[in-house]
Amino acid sequence: MKKTSRLPGFYKLSIDERLKIVREFAGLTEEETLALKNFGNLGEKLADVMIENVIGCMSYPFAVAVNFMINDKEYLVPMVLEEPSVVAAASNAARFMRRDGGIKAKAEASLMIGQIQVINLLNPNYAKMLVLEHKNEILDLANQQDSVLVRLGGGAKDVEARIIDTRIGPMLIVHLIVDVKDAMGANAVNTMCEAVAPLIEKITAGKVLLRIISNNAVKRLVRAWVKVYKEDIGEEVVDGIVAASAFAEADPYRAVTHNKGIMNGIIAIALATAQDHRAIEAGAHAYAARTGTYRPLSVWEKDDEGNLVGTLELPLAVGVVGGATRTHPVAKVALKILGVKTAKELAEIMAAVGLAQNFAALRALATEGIQKGHMKLHARNIAIMAGAKGELIDKVAEIMIKEGKIRYSRAVEILKNILKKR
Ligand code: MEV
Repeated sequence: MKKTSRLPGFYKLSIDERLKIVREFAGLTEEETLALKNFGNLGEKLADVMIENVIGCMSYPFAVAVNFMINDKEYLVPMVLEEPSVVAAASNAARFMRRDGGIKAKAEASLMIGQIQVINLLNPNYAKMLVLEHKNEILDLANQQDSVLVRLGGGAKDVEARIIDTRIGPMLIVHLIVDVKDAMGANAVNTMCEAVAPLIEKITAGKVLLRIISNNAVKRLVRAWVKVYKEDIGEEVVDGIVAASAFAEADPYRAVTHNKGIMNGIIAIALATAQDHRAIEAGAHAYAARTGTYRPLSVWEKDDEGNLVGTLELPLAVGVVGGATRTHPVAKVALKILGVKTAKELAEIMAAVGLAQNFAALRALATEGIQKGHMKLHARNIAIMAGAKGELIDKVAEIMIKEGKIRYSRAVEILKNILKKR
């Protein structure tokens, strides 16, 4: 049979039927097919309804970062990711951030922006005034879509209107400002935008095209700040981190990597709690570039006593109700480990951990570099893969590091030699 990716009705098949087709298409072995068919702690039924065309599951490790004190409260922080060293770095950084109630963080109200694009307007300026004139009518209609949210004190709160110049002419962009409370908000906002579109067409005599949330969540900022005492890390490290921060502030090439380090912590929590991490990334990087130049989301300075003080500000659209946060059994457990009840508290933890993660990276970079720690973990992983157990893991890893050869084949050899001598 000719190999084709054109598979009408693929989505209607069972997981096994789909998997059989993929197996033939890609020439998968029995072992490879079985690797996909492990549904782990999500379960086959849930996996099959969460997204389309499911043929299996993929597991990532779930860890907890320890030592976190945020806003005077103890936290164990669930993290899911594939990169070694991140959890260890966060836990280690948090040790230096427990004084004075720990890392401080504060999230603004959960205001999201919904965009309604109005085209074909002869008089966009006049149409803008009409939209603002009918603000209450638009808000009422929007709020009729989500009585639960309104009852909780949320809902559509404001209407803004902007005229933008585009290469196909001016457009009126209506913004619906919605307090989404403890949800990420995309569903509520998109529903409201679609519902008010016909009214906006009637008001403006234009044509509404796109009706969608903006992931540029600039009205949902969270801030975190911390003081690290100079006697805990040494004056040289304080100066090193300040210089590393100044580098990122002045150079977008460095700022992107600096922010990547922050996102290591934030996205790991986002994955553990089943957030829309693409939305978080998009919003964070747009915020970093809001001045027209890409800049670091955090800044490290020295206070008048020589201590290191760090601050972080970014938008975080996260939720503790709705979506996969409530359907993924492990995300529910992650939220329980965190002990959070509100989206604001979750955002505050994520920002605090992002700041600690950033500190850990800068501290390592400004001193011994990050490769030493990375290599140690990498070597341990390779030793484990080669079959080392217990104390032999570190022994095999150490020899490989000393030799500068961290390879599976070498780990097998070393392990064989050690076992022979016993
Ligand atoms: C690696 O995942 C993250 C770092 O590159 C961040 C940084 O350079 O600040 C270490």
